[in-house]
Amino acid sequence: TKDWNGIEQIVLRNPLGASARVSLLGGQVTSWRNERGEELLFMSNKGILKSAKPMRGGIPICFPQFGNCDSLEQHGFARNKIWAVDDDAPPLPANDPQWKSFVDLLLKPSEEDLKFWPHSFEFRLRVSLGMDGNLTLISRVRNVNGKPFSFSFAYHSYFSVSDISEVRIEGLETMDYFDNLCKRERFTEQGDAITFESEIDRVYLSSPSCIAVLDHERKRTYVLRKEGLPDVVVWNPWEKKSKAMSDFGDDEYKQMLCVDGAAIEKPITLKPGEEWTGRLEIAVVPSSFCSEG
Ligand code: BG6
Repeated sequence: TKDWNGIEQIVLRNPLGASARVSLLGGQVTSWRNERGEELLFMSNKGILKSAKPMRGGIPICFPQFGNCDSLEQHGFARNKIWAVDDDAPPLPANDPQWKSFVDLLLKPSEEDLKFWPHSFEFRLRVSLGMDGNLTLISRVRNVNGKPFSFSFAYHSYFSVSDISEVRIEGLETMDYFDNLCKRERFTEQGDAITFESEIDRVYLSSPSCIAVLDHERKRTYVLRKEGLPDVVVWNPWEKKSKAMSDFGDDEYKQMLCVDGAAIEKPITLKPGEEWTGRLEIAVVPSSFCSEG
C-alpha cells in the first residue's frame, strides 16, 4: 500500500486484528492500531502533500544526530531517506518474540550523504508487531568504515493522548535532564511524575529501562521498555510553537506527546566492524505501571 505522497508502506497485522504501518520514507512507523482498530500513535491531520519532510507523527528515526547542534540537518538525514526492504537481514538475538509480523529495512549512505557525513554504515531496522499487539523497533547500526564514528539517535515517538493536561509520565522522577539540548544546561526533576501545562522540550539522562505514559481519560498506559537507549526525550510544542509549525494544527498539541527512547548525551561510538543495537518495545495496557509487569 502507499501513503498520501505515493510512497510505499508495509502493513503488519496480527491474527487478533492489531496492525501497524511502516513507510519506506524514513523507515517511519506511521500507524499502530490495537485489536479494536484504535490508533495509538499521533499523526497530524495537517500533512503536507508532496513534502520532502517526514510526516508529522508516528515514529520517525533520528539518526545520525538528534537535534541540530552540529552541522547536520535537524534530527539527521535517516528520516528523509527512502529505505530498502531487506530480505536477507542477519538473525536477531533470541529475545525477539516467537510469533510476530515484521519487516526488515536497510539504509546505507548514498554518495551524496557521504559528503555531509563521511562514514559508511549499514542501518538495519526491524519493526515487529507481536501476538500481544506490542510494537517493537530494533535498530542495528554497523560501522563498515575504516575509521570509528559517533552518532546520536532517537525513536521520535508521537503518542496519541486524549488531553495532554490529563497525562503523566512515570519513571523519570528525580532524573537529571537537559532543558536546552545545545547549551546542555542540566537540571534535576523535582516532581513525583511529569505532568504538562506548558511547552516542554527535554532530554532526561540515563533513565530507567521502563517508562510509563498514563492517559487517565482513556484509561490507557503506554509502557516503553528500552535497551541501548539510556535517554528519554519528552516534547510537546504547546500553543505558541504549534502555531509556528506549518505541518501541525494549532490545537493538535493537546492530542499528542512525544516520548522517545534515545541515545543523546553520550554519543555511540563504533569502531570499524562494530555494531550497536537500540531496542524499543511499546505495550499498551489498561492502566498499570512498570513494576507490575
Ligand atoms: C523535538 C525537539 O524532539 O523535536 C524539538 O527537541 C523539535 O526541538 C521537535 O522542535 C520536532 O522537530 P522536527 O524537526 O520534526 O520539527
